[in-house]
This record gives sequence, structure tokens and C-alpha cells, in this order.
Amino acid sequence: MQNIGAIGLDLGGNNAVIAVAKRINVEIITNEASHRATPIVIGFGPNERFIGEQGYAQLKSNFKNTIVYPTRFLGLAADAPILEEEKKYIFTPITRTDDNKIAFEVLSRGEKQRFLPEQAVAMMLSKVKENIHREGISANDMVISVPSYYTEQERKALIDAAKIAKINVVKLMNESTAIAAGYGIFRKAEMSANPRNVVFIDFGHCSTSISLGSFTKDHTAIVSEIHERNLGTRDLDWRLLEFYADICKKKFGVDITANPKTKLRMFDAIEKQRKILSANSEAVISVDNVAEDEDMSYTLTRENFEDIITSIVARFGQMLSQFKSAIKVPIHSIEIVGGGTRIPIIQKIIQEVFNMECSRTLNGSECIARGCAMQAALLTPAFKFAPYTIQEANFYPIRCSWTFREENGMEIEAEPGMENKRTAILFPEGCSVPTAKVMTFHQDKNIEISLSYDTQTLTGGSPLLARFIIQGKKSQRPDFSTKVRIALNHNGLLELDSAQLVEEFFEDNLAAGGNGASQNPGFFGQFTNAFQKTFKQQEDEVKRKKTAQNTDLKTQVSFYNSMNEKQIQYFTDLEAQLLNQDRLVHETYEKRNELEACVYDIRAKINEKYANSLRPETKASMLAELDQLENWLYDEGAKASIQVYQQKLDKLKRDIQSIETR
Ligand SMILES: Nc1ncnc2c1ncn2[C@@H]1O[C@H](COP(=O)(O)OP(=O)(O)OP(=O)(O)O)[C@@H](O)[C@H]1O
Ligand SMILES: [Mg+2]
Repeated sequence: MQNIGAIGLDLGGNNAVIAVAKRINVEIITNEASHRATPIVIGFGPNERFIGEQGYAQLKSNFKNTIVYPTRFLGLAADAPILEEEKKYIFTPITRTDDNKIAFEVLSRGEKQRFLPEQAVAMMLSKVKENIHREGISANDMVISVPSYYTEQERKALIDAAKIAKINVVKLMNESTAIAAGYGIFRKAEMSANPRNVVFIDFGHCSTSISLGSFTKDHTAIVSEIHERNLGTRDLDWRLLEFYADICKKKFGVDITANPKTKLRMFDAIEKQRKILSANSEAVISVDNVAEDEDMSYTLTRENFEDIITSIVARFGQMLSQFKSAIKVPIHSIEIVGGGTRIPIIQKIIQEVFNMECSRTLNGSECIARGCAMQAALLTPAFKFAPYTIQEANFYPIRCSWTFREENGMEIEAEPGMENKRTAILFPEGCSVPTAKVMTFHQDKNIEISLSYDTQTLTGGSPLLARFIIQGKKSQRPDFSTKVRIALNHNGLLELDSAQLVEEFFEDNLAAGGNGASQNPGFFGQFTNAFQKTFKQQEDEVKRKKTAQNTDLKTQVSFYNSMNEKQIQYFTDLEAQLLNQDRLVHETYEKRNELEACVYDIRAKINEKYANSLRPETKASMLAELDQLENWLYDEGAKASIQVYQQKLDKLKRDIQSIETR
């Protein structure tokens, strides 16, 4: 296999799209059914798993043991209120684990099994890897998209899933940034030093995002964005389901939503009808056996459809108005992506609110994967590009709080009036990512820092993110501080970069103290952007020949809600085991087919090619043996092991060889 591509993966709520950046272009990698998008569906059978296309094909007949929408459950706690909404669209029971996580419960290979969302996503990622490798590309490194509103917990859960699937995440890229980057990189020639501002609207299957991208010749940046986690075409389908359920209730006296199989068949038919309505003024839905021996058929006009979904369109309209009113720059254009933007009423409301035509110059279904592949190429040294920067934006403000402790762990009393200074926003909403901040404490005591979201997240989970304990070290000099550098890294995740005791002194000792003790050490930290230092500061330092001695401090770092290495290893081994079992099932199946084909082939040769060269009794006994083997294959040999098939195949081949060499 050649390692020739930089891989980008759009892991949506519903579909996965894989793109590969090659030397001069970006291509989509199709799946085994030659489709450009693969459904994110993981089915469990008595012998093997069915993932992607195969999973989707068996969904209706095996819904109880099929996981759908696993990415929507990543990082959620078992008591998250939004689970109720998600549960409407899934068919497997959900249980709560000891550590308050979610697990899907399915029957796999005849046994009741529980799989965490991370494991289910890892299974899908294994399938993605298989599709990439089938193309002859050996890469296991990729840039994977995430909704920008994904919390630290959701991002970490996805990275854990990738580890379980033995995939190296080069970067988690926000979907909005991927869309914008794909737009900006291919339009470099059109851009000038004056930023071009473009609104991107992604109305997807489960969620909706609106973002503002700013572009110059060598730079793409997301300036602002808003999201609705639960606003997409599946919400429209839910409304239609309720509408038809009402009709069926009145007509046949049954609740069609109570039967999961009927519900699934209805969702299928509703999606087809919805798509037809995007291009036609009316569409018929017909579903047989919705009730006992009762079929349902209904002709819906586009007007009816728009009436039924009014409240959802209104929610979308509010989102658009809120976003528009916050924009302070002239808009160049509005780019629409995501399957839902093909619906005429969705386009109409965008045009009404912005008073501007929508443009669809991006490939709405593939632009995220393409943007990720471009980002992967930019990060791969083998690809030579002119410098180009892609700047992401932080979605949730992160608050930092700190306390100082004596060696015995006792908290130090805060100075009167200083209590409220022990907390501050470290990373505000909208700040660029990656970024880092240095906190300076005029202290040499132990410092306990805790970080949390300063807002309710879209998943409504716990705001707690991390706790860092910095072990203080007594300084022998008057001018000292503890500097803690905290980063929001390229994946949008918190990191403790460094914690140091910084002791400053003048080499000639003459001016010492002038800048140290007089700094009035306080109980509160000071933030400096790690990348900035004023010119004045630098000048002063040079004049006074001040020297700093930095000593690394011991730290204890704990993050909430992520898997530990031991758990990851356990799930990685389990996934490898499941992959091997699936592989064995497929290889056995292929060997059985090979044996069956060999029986037909040899029988034909005996009857035709060697008909006259064989003694009649040899011919009769060989044909009888072949008949017996064929019967065995359809009977007790249907589930034999690969070794047994191989033995029988070897024997057949020896027999025919002995005839051929006679
Ligand atoms: N012509 C059309 N008319 C109406 N709906 C359409 C049309 N084409 C696609 N869709 C719908 O778009 C949806 C898929 O959109 P998309 O691929 O953007 O979702 P996704 O990226 O998987 O989900 P999300 O971004 O919400 O996680 C499907 O529900 C599909 O039926
Ligand atoms: Mg999407």
C-alpha cells in the first residue's frame, strides 16, 4: 500500500464522508457499494457485525440490535436531559454504566452485550479505515470534523473512539472551519488584503449551524457562529410522522409510532416524500401494513408540508435573525450547505431574513470532508503549500478559578476584598484556537486551579473540565512568581503546558529589589497572552540585564470524564478481537463459496472435458462424491469451519490434478 494521501473525514450525525487530498486535487473515497457517503449504522448479528451500508440494509429487520446516531451520544452523561430527545430516533435500549455513562444494549453473537458510544463510533471508524485501505492508501492519520459546539467531553470521547480504532487524529476540525477552509483555499486568487465576509448556513440531518467566515489571500478565519443541536431534517420528519400517526389513529385506531418497525418504514417513506417535495409541488406517500392489513397512502402538497413544519421553520428564522443582527461587517455572500438547504422553504426564509440570494457554490454534502482533507494536507510536510492559516474560534467561554494552599493543604485566607479576584474568564467565547494564556501568581504556595465552562453547553452536561494542582516551591529571592501556561490546543482541548517558579534578579545586583518586592505580591493572578510581550517590557529587561531562573514545578493534572489509558487499551483489544471474528466469518464465507464453485467446476470438467478419458466407474464414483459434498454444503456443512472447507477444497484439487496429469 502507498501512503499518498492526506485524509479528511466528515463524521456527521447520519453519514460519514471520506476525502483524500492528493498532489493536485481532493477526491472522495467511495465505500464498498460505490456510494460517496456511508450511513453511520452498526448492526449486530448472531455471527458478525454489519457496519455502514450493510448495517443500514439490515436495520429494519434487526432494529433492536442496531446502533444508529452513535456520534450524537459521545460524551453524554446517562442523566443528560437531552437524551430524551435523542431516544426518539433510536431503537436499541440504553443503560447507565457505573460511572454514569451511556451504553447501548444489543444481542451480539447470541449474547447480551453493552457498548459505549465510543466503542460504537470506533466500529464505524474501523469501517472508514477499511474503505481507505481498499483504495490502496495505508494512512491511519486523519483530520476528523466535529460540530463546533462539541464540548471537551464530546471531543475527548471522539479521540478515545479513534484510539480504540487505532486511528491517529491529526486534528479535530470544527465543521464550520472545514466548510470555510474549503471555500477560502480554492478561492485564494479572488481574495485581497481586505477581508471578504461570507455567511455559511448548514441545515443538516440533526443539527443546524450558521457561521461567518472571513477570508484574505492566505487566511481563513471563523469570526462568529451559532448552533442548534436539535434542528434538522429529522425534526421535520418527526413532525410528518406525528401528522401521519394522527391520520392512522383516526382511520385505523392504531398508534403507528408504537411499533418500531412501522416507525422505521414510515421514516423511510417520509424522507423519500420530503425529497420529492423539494422539486415537486406534491408527493404521494404509501406504506403498506401500517395496521393489520391496512395500508396508508396520502398525497401531500408542498403547501401542506410547509404548514406542518411551520414551527420548525420559525425556529430556524429566529436563529437567522439573531445571527444577522450581530453581524457588523458587510456580507459578500451566503453559502448554503447541508441536505436540508435543498428544501425550498428553508432557502426562502434565508433569503427573506438576509434579503440576499443564497449561493450554492460548495458541494453541500462533501465540503466538510474536503475541507478536512485540505487541512490534513496543510499539516503534512510532504505536501508543499504556500503559507496558509486556518483559524478556528472557541465556542464556549472557559472560566478559571484558583486557590492557594499551605503545605498542609489548608486554604489560605483571601485578602479582604480580593475574594472575587480568584476567578476570571481565561478563554472567552470567540477567541482564536489554538491559543495559550500565562497566569502569573506572585506566590510560591501550592496552587489549585480548576477550569469549567462559564455557560450552559448545548449538551447540558457538567461544566467541570479540569483540575490542576501546582506544587509550590519556596523561593529564596524577593522577586518571584509562579507562571502557569494553559493552552486551548488545536483540537479545542485544554492542556497544562507548563508550571514554573520564575525567580528574577539583576545580574549586577545593583537594581535588585527595585522591581521585585515593590510589585506588591497579591493573591490574584495576572493573565498575559502567551504570545505577546510588550516592546516596553522587552526594552526595560535589556537595560537592567535582568535574569530569570525558571524551575519546573510538580503538577497533578486531572480531567473530568475522559477514559484512562487502561480502559482505552481494554476497548482497543476488544475491537481488534471483534474485527478478527468478523474477518474470520467473511473468510469462512468466501472459502465456502470457493468450495461450492470448485464442486461445480469439477463436475463440469468430468462431464465434458474428461468425459471420454475417464473409466465409467471412476467417473460415477467421482460424481457421487461431488453430489455428496454438495449436499453436505447445504446441510450440516453449511456452518463448518474455514479449516474443514480448506481440507475438502485441497482434496478436490488433488483429485482433479491427478486426472489432469494422467
Ligand atoms: N433534495 C433534498 N430535499 C430534502 N432533503 C434532502 C434533500 N437531499 C438531502 N436531504 C436530506 O438531508 C439530510 C442529510 O443532510 P446532511 O448530509 O447535511 O446531514 P449530516 O451532515 O449527516 O447531519 P448533521 O450535520 O446534522 O449531523 C437527510 O435527511 C436527507 O434526506
Ligand atoms: Mg453535517
